[in-house]
Amino acid sequence: MTIEAKPMGESRTISTRLVLPPDINHQQTIFGGRVMAYIDEIAAITAMKHAQSAVVTASIDSVDFVSPAVVGDVLELEAIVSSTGRTSMEVFVNVHSKNLLTGEKKLTTKSFLTMVAMGADKRPKEVARVYPETELEKSLFETAPDRRTHRQTRREMRH
Ligand SMILES: CC(C)(COP(=O)(O)OP(=O)(O)OC[C@H]1O[C@@H](n2cnc3c(N)ncnc32)[C@H](O)[C@@H]1OP(=O)(O)O)[C@@H](O)C(=O)NCCC(=O)NCCS
Repeated sequence: MTIEAKPMGESRTISTRLVLPPDINHQQTIFGGRVMAYIDEIAAITAMKHAQSAVVTASIDSVDFVSPAVVGDVLELEAIVSSTGRTSMEVFVNVHSKNLLTGEKKLTTKSFLTMVAMGADKRPKEVARVYPETELEKSLFETAPDRRTHRQTRREMRH
């Protein structure tokens, strides 16, 4: 039975976090590991929404730290399923930092992850395909095959 395709926007997830003193390093900027934990969490939520099942993180494919965030900034995370395989979902997450006093907003981090849907038997489970609607979604969807090839090459080199 083929599962009906879903629009990317259906599982889009937004999350907001405040940068607090325990989150920062000796340079007074947020730890990269803290941002990665937030990214992993929102990617899992997005993938679970799409797959309507449990998911695991198979790989964090790329993380680009574009600019730092400081204490008092708000982090705005946005995640969407940017493409699907049979049981895997590529999730794109972008993080902006916002100074609420000045209104200045900057791209902080961009990341692609691969999440795999898991069935009740703890085995990978088939997921619905996604289709894009907005210009950003179309561009992510169209470039996904190249990223998938890159992932497969990296995995083959590991063995
Ligand atoms: C991810 C996992 C379920 C894959 O299991 P597997 O037995 O290799 O299953 P398969 O070979 O059928 O692969 C399932 C899908 O995962 C993808 N996949 C597997 N390993 C991957 C990796 N390292 N990177 C990206 N995708 C991967 C496959 O391409 C396949 O996708 P597709 O169905 O869309 O084509 C398994 O490796 C696992 O449980 N890993 C640990 C996950 C975890 O604990 N994450 C938390 C980290 S702390």
